[in-house]
Amino acid sequence: MSVQYDLEGQQRVYEKWAPIYDAVYHKFLSDAHSRTAAAAARCGKDILEVGVGTGLILRYYPVSCNIYGVDLSEHMLSKAVEKVRELRLGNVKLLASMDACRLGFADASFDAVAVPFVITLVPNPEGALDEIRRVLKPGGEIVVTSKLGADDGIVPKVEEVLAPLMKKVGWSSHFKVSRLERWAERHPDMEFVGVEPVFPAGFFKLVRIRKRG
Ligand SMILES: C[S@@+](CC[C@H](N)C(=O)[O-])C[C@H]1O[C@@H](n2cnc3c(N)ncnc32)[C@H](O)[C@@H]1O
Repeated sequence: MSVQYDLEGQQRVYEKWAPIYDAVYHKFLSDAHSRTAAAAARCGKDILEVGVGTGLILRYYPVSCNIYGVDLSEHMLSKAVEKVRELRLGNVKLLASMDACRLGFADASFDAVAVPFVITLVPNPEGALDEIRRVLKPGGEIVVTSKLGADDGIVPKVEEVLAPLMKKVGWSSHFKVSRLERWAERHPDMEFVGVEPVFPAGFFKLVRIRKRG
């Protein structure tokens, strides 16, 4: 299966999700979304959101920030465009169709790159992180929020037991936090800052990785 095929598969999946995504996820993800925006905004004013989807996070960024959102799915993006218009989000400077692994921005363009609920879907997550690192300014941060599996303690065992149920509702814990940690360790200019549990009860996690200044 080629990467190209996977990307087309993702586009088909999100064409179906676009009309119903907000009704399903708006409330459930609001804690994760607001905290992702806050963590990104603490780094500075120029923020890229990779996998911006229907734009549910856009309302949470301070008006002083310049937000650039990219996504693979035109159908999800058109919902984000509607939201920007309806909510008059003048700080959203660009919404564009782009693959996380091929970002059309110059090196060191952003103070923060938010990566909410997308890294586990990318066929080559390390390739996406490499590209995100390229467009991040020194001193900036990558903020990854997702359903990430725990690596040690009792939690991985509970996740294993719950895996069949989670699969039915479209969630998985296969992508572990340690995968992000290993990627950061391979790059001397990157520093794994830490993991924060996010509602509900740490089911989602927010990971921060900093580019040394
Ligand atoms: C679960 S949705 C999350 C949307 C939004 N970030 C949120 O938290 O509500 C995943 C989004 O990632 C996008 N996506 C998947 N693979 C991608 C890729 N390789 N590059 C850019 N976006 C991608 C999908 O089109 C979809 O809009």
